Amino acid sequence: MNKKVTARAHTNIALIKYWGKKNPELIIPTTSSLSLTLDQFYTDTAVVFNSNLSHDELTLNGQPITDHTLLKTSTFLDIVRQMAGINTFARIESTNHVPTAAGLASSASGFAALAAASSKAAGLNLDRQALSRLARRGSGSASRSIFGGFAEWIAGEDDLTSYAHPIQENVTMDIQMLTVVLDGSVKKIGSRQGMQHAIATSPFYDTWVAESEVDLVTMKQAIANNDFQTLGELAEHNALQMHSLNFTAKPAFTYFNGDTLNILNLVQNLRHQGIQAYATMDAGPNVKIISQSTATQVICEAIKKDFPNATVEVAKPGPGISYL
Ligand code: ADP
Ligand code: DP6
Repeated sequence: MNKKVTARAHTNIALIKYWGKKNPELIIPTTSSLSLTLDQFYTDTAVVFNSNLSHDELTLNGQPITDHTLLKTSTFLDIVRQMAGINTFARIESTNHVPTAAGLASSASGFAALAAASSKAAGLNLDRQALSRLARRGSGSASRSIFGGFAEWIAGEDDLTSYAHPIQENVTMDIQMLTVVLDGSVKKIGSRQGMQHAIATSPFYDTWVAESEVDLVTMKQAIANNDFQTLGELAEHNALQMHSLNFTAKPAFTYFNGDTLNILNLVQNLRHQGIQAYATMDAGPNVKIISQSTATQVICEAIKKDFPNATVEVAKPGPGISYL
């Protein structure tokens, strides 16, 4: 106690998406999901519990935070305090090396880093499965960021059975994600709100659940077989299925903007030219292009030609949680 602990967690992007909860309070998803942890984007979070504090204090990227993010962080720390049998408040300093709330998974790296740093600072010594369960309570996708490479979040039925595990931490496939950022602004509809609306109102939700189960099996086979083409085709298809739930919700909504569709079009055109490139999108307008290192230059040139204002970053498979 009173010891400052700093943890680093990398973001992950789902190849088979999580989009809906059967238990919103415990964050138990309707489907299992599978992701790739990325090396380029991460969060560093330092936590110290201090008996002189009268409430939790949070800074994010050096700025004091007093809005809903502090509330979410404090609610999360209440779980840690309960597990550790303490009632001390904490000072949390977090830095996102990823745009916040722009669909690039800051909540995944943010809550994975917070879970690791806060549990250790509170004197708990959790194994990675327990850390994954804890991170899940902050944000579902954070459960997968405990692990490097390909990780699967098993949906489970309750708090004990819903956690992520590594599928392949040292990735053998040549795979990368080119993140194309055209809009780094904060989204209007958070993932939490968006997925609950889709589950409640899209007539295709049950189909999504059934399709997702089949996709997950095929995705795991593609990883085991180092089959990049199947992985890419399936990831794009799964992402479009997820976004179609939002288009068919009542009222309908979307995270896409015009540029999202333009980049999707560019990716399709690249494929027509024989270049293996596939798109995936999360709760934001920015597209991630799943590709291989041999195609980096030609894809980057195509993006720069049509979208001179785009920022492109090449992200490779990244590691799981670490302490600094
Ligand atoms: P994203 O696409 O970035 O994951 P979400 O809407 O899913 O967007 O989650 C973003 C929210 O996650 C932020 O508004 C904030 O509440 C929370 N968050 C992001 N980074 C951190 C962090 N480092 N520590 C605590 N909470 C964070
Ligand atoms: C589209 O994990 O941010 O990125 O559990 O409500 O915090 P909460 O949602 P969050 O949702 C992520 C949704 C997604 C798909 C995915 O990462 O699987």
